[in-house]
Amino acid sequence: MLIEIPQLLNDAFVQKILSVLEGARFVDGKLTAGMAAAQVKRNEELAVDPDKLQLLYRILMTALGHDSTFKSAALPNKVADFIFARYQAGMRYGDHVDDPVMGGSGPRFRSDVSMTVFLSAPDSYDGGELVIRTSFGDKQVKLNAGDAVIYPSSSLHHVAEVTRGERLVAVTWIQSLVRDPAQRELLHDLDLAREHLLRTAPGESHTQRIDRSYANLLRCWAEV
Ligand code: NI
Repeated sequence: MLIEIPQLLNDAFVQKILSVLEGARFVDGKLTAGMAAAQVKRNEELAVDPDKLQLLYRILMTALGHDSTFKSAALPNKVADFIFARYQAGMRYGDHVDDPVMGGSGPRFRSDVSMTVFLSAPDSYDGGELVIRTSFGDKQVKLNAGDAVIYPSSSLHHVAEVTRGERLVAVTWIQSLVRDPAQRELLHDLDLAREHLLRTAPGESHTQRIDRSYANLLRCWAEV
């Protein structure tokens, strides 16, 4: 399931992030790619700069912590440090699946959910769509600055070539409490129904049944 998260970052946070990235040093994105992905990856990533990264991580992690759609749909257990990627004209990232196990020298984790946070205004560049190949056909995603998309890390996907301007994104991976995308989707649906009932019919016995079912289904499936 592919879920868009409008305004994960408000305008002020987008501007803050862009100001930190402006003039920062970027390096070849191949350095962080697995063997297969490196062959199709043509982009750049923010060079390691602890002060800049701390500030950027803090903004993004705070936004994730406050976003109910993200929490309900991804059921995050571990969230990797964000990577800040830049695509200038002529850059692209060909079809690949993301690495299944990440973490390098630090603590390792499984990637269940991939996330892209769009940082550039969509009319400031041409191309650069994130294209996710689903069983219902290709899904093209190019969102407003501050919007995000999450999708199962098992999905084949690519970034179309940027033909004008510059595409800046923040990307990360999440190990979910629930590994199976179909189970996560079912829980997210049930959670939306539960939230609605808790608002509109808080005292009703059917609300309590749905609320209890959600909690106990999550208990069945969660791994921590
Ligand atoms: Ni990818």
